[in-house]
Amino acid sequence: MPSLEFSLTATDPGSKARAGEMTTDHGKIQTPIFMPVGTVGSVKAVSQQQLKEEVQAQIILGNTYHLYLRPGPEVLEAAGGLHRFNGWDRPILTDSGGYQVFSLAGNRKLTEQGALFQSHIDGSKHLFTPESVMDIQRVIGADIIMAFDECPPYPSDYAYARKSMDLTHRWLDRCVTRLSETPDKYGYTQNLFPIVQGSTFADLRKASCEYISSREAAGNAIGGLSVGEPEEIMYELTALCCENLPEDKPRYLMGVGTPWNILENISLGVDMFDCVMPTRNGRNAMLFTSRGVINIDNKKWEKDFSPIDDGIDCHFSNFYSKAYLRHLVKAKEILGLTIASVHNLAFYLWLVKEARRHILAGDFNRWKNEMVPVLKTRL
Ligand code: GUN
Repeated sequence: MPSLEFSLTATDPGSKARAGEMTTDHGKIQTPIFMPVGTVGSVKAVSQQQLKEEVQAQIILGNTYHLYLRPGPEVLEAAGGLHRFNGWDRPILTDSGGYQVFSLAGNRKLTEQGALFQSHIDGSKHLFTPESVMDIQRVIGADIIMAFDECPPYPSDYAYARKSMDLTHRWLDRCVTRLSETPDKYGYTQNLFPIVQGSTFADLRKASCEYISSREAAGNAIGGLSVGEPEEIMYELTALCCENLPEDKPRYLMGVGTPWNILENISLGVDMFDCVMPTRNGRNAMLFTSRGVINIDNKKWEKDFSPIDDGIDCHFSNFYSKAYLRHLVKAKEILGLTIASVHNLAFYLWLVKEARRHILAGDFNRWKNEMVPVLKTRL
């Protein structure tokens, strides 16, 4: 039985946006939510304390692929799971590894059985199957675990997309079976989210939504988007998927995206997001703020002693100046990576909190239409 509960608190009259609350055994999550990515069990350059106090993160992500390769299931099991290992006592979600195998590993080979790949760390050979990926996610112990899927590249032709989607569906069945045969390891419930695929083809997407909905999982994910397709195509496909996924379950759009992508997809009915963008782009001098996008490398910030962003409720963003952060980045000081990452994550969490506030107030759509051009502004 899934322990994850989801209740809708409000819906926006002007769009499909929803505000809700998810309950897991590690606490509640208010939706819409953004989940910082902690690939190897660490959100890069950000401490767990900063995630709680500065970023106000409610749930973080881990990756099965990375955690399996290092430190490996034996260490994680000996620790008593990832929560105990990294000290994060709020909810965790793990991605299943298929996506990372195809974006990171060398020499990949896909078969009915699973994905053969070579580690990006030492070239060693490994096989992921739906069963092994469920077993590894059992050991990691995340509250939400993802089904093993194939994310087809963009563009894919129809025949390939169909074959790939059917394989993802057969793998889902094997994930469900394996999970039902293995008990929860650490005394709390792990909830499987299946993933919709189908590339850019509306009929495949619809069929995939119907297939995964029939599994009556605690929540459902939309995969295979933000892989290079134009934004308008992503929005059309998200809208279609949201229309064909259950109302009463959380909807998670994987790997998306920019701040404006997040607001547009919230307006289409998405509840959960993750993306490396705030941390990865932050480490490369790109800051997202409530007034627009900043390249902190730019000379124009050299003597700008105003706060990074005084429009959001994060001490780091209010306290450190643009000029100081620019100096740290130029001098390659590691504190610069932390300030940029904490700020960007705090901004993303502020954005979804504001979205929620406007959904509750019933004026989300008007606010979203005002915010999107502001967020896109290059400062
Ligand atoms: N992260 C971003 N997109 C995807 C996807 O399609 N599948 C999985 N498993 N993870 C993702």
